[in-house]
Amino acid sequence: MVEFPPRPPKDIASIPRHVRLHMLMSVRDLHVPSVEELQLYETMDMMIRQNYHHLQPSSSSTWSMISGEEARYRPPVTAPTYGAAVVGVSGSGKTQAIRRCLSTFPQTIQHTSFFRMVNGLQQVVWLSLDVPAGGKATDLAAALMTAWKKATGSTRFDKTLAGEWRNGPQMLDEWRQVASSHFLGLLHLDEIQNLFKLPPLKSRSKRKPGEPQPELRIIDDQSLKWILTALNEWQIPLLVSGTPDGFGALTKRLSNTERIVTSGYHAFKHFWGDHDAAFRQHFLPRLGHYQYVARPIAINEELGDLVLEKTAGVQRLIIALWIAAHRVAFERNDDDLRLGDFKVAADTYLAPVAQAVAALHSNDPGRLSMYEDLSPQDHSFWAQFWSNISRN
Ligand SMILES: Nc1ncnc2c1ncn2[C@@H]1O[C@H](COP(=O)(O)OP(=O)(O)OP(=O)(O)O)[C@@H](O)[C@H]1O
Ligand SMILES: [Mg+2]
Repeated sequence: MVEFPPRPPKDIASIPRHVRLHMLMSVRDLHVPSVEELQLYETMDMMIRQNYHHLQPSSSSTWSMISGEEARYRPPVTAPTYGAAVVGVSGSGKTQAIRRCLSTFPQTIQHTSFFRMVNGLQQVVWLSLDVPAGGKATDLAAALMTAWKKATGSTRFDKTLAGEWRNGPQMLDEWRQVASSHFLGLLHLDEIQNLFKLPPLKSRSKRKPGEPQPELRIIDDQSLKWILTALNEWQIPLLVSGTPDGFGALTKRLSNTERIVTSGYHAFKHFWGDHDAAFRQHFLPRLGHYQYVARPIAINEELGDLVLEKTAGVQRLIIALWIAAHRVAFERNDDDLRLGDFKVAADTYLAPVAQAVAALHSNDPGRLSMYEDLSPQDHSFWAQFWSNISRN
């Protein structure tokens, strides 16, 4: 799961700036796993393997579940359900961590011979996708089908996808049957907050201090119901991930009997409060190797303080600031990296996220929810940011 891209060459001074700019972009691939990520890996490994124990190909109950023939099928009481969640503010590294954990498992396994199957079986170990913005059941079903096709190459859903998407529950069930019959081992749904509707920013900013936050409204109950059924009745282990507001809304909607987290709850933290030692001892020293100037900046407490101040310790912002500071340094002829470059980068390239950073520093729940409001806009901001910064 660790990834350390190649370090800058020793003769960096002789390399033209525009070439260095390209090299610099590899910092985006740097990955320093957190302790939480290692625990998440264990949770995922346990979910996948334990669940397969209960999906014995030789047991008739497995096949009646897959075929859905018995309308009143209930899994044996001994078969537990496996559900886990990854929650953290936007940019804290949820998607990256999950992807890296997943990639340690083969996505599909081809069995040339398989119990009851004449032509063998393509087992699908995991599938990962985003809940589509808008959260509608038809869109979710289409996203599941598209992800399935990408993973397996199967044209199975082509007809449905090309048709009119009317009946969400029917589409979801079509997908479910196929997924079960290929023994899907783990379903990961990212951006779980998309099941809910954020009140418009305007009405939120009008809220007075101390006033409770408005509840998030569910967009389409069918999606949520289906997700729970997949977990509880069809024995598809489910991993959900998203921002704290979305996950909070999700758990609020569920009664006690419908717990979605049975296997593990993983809070991904930005480097803040007690957690900043991980930044100073592990993250920053490793990031510090990636300096594309002749005279690197010292990796010390002062730099650490400045980076935390300007980014609130959010992993995505730290990487962005690091790259932007280089960009600022490249404008000068000194061929070094200075604290001032980080300050200028924060005030220019990263100015649009300053409010969000201030909200995170405040740790006031009201203001934090404003940060979450900013994240949907983030996507266009970040596309713009990366294209500006990598342009010569
Ligand atoms: N463990 C890590 N080591 C190094 N960089 C990281 C790490 N985690 C995250 N980052 C940086 O932060 C960026 C954002 O991470 P990621 O996309 O996983 O966040 P997220 O929590 O899924 O955010 P969102 O809620 O907006 O989807 C990564 O592209 C990477 O540059
Ligand atoms: Mg993400």
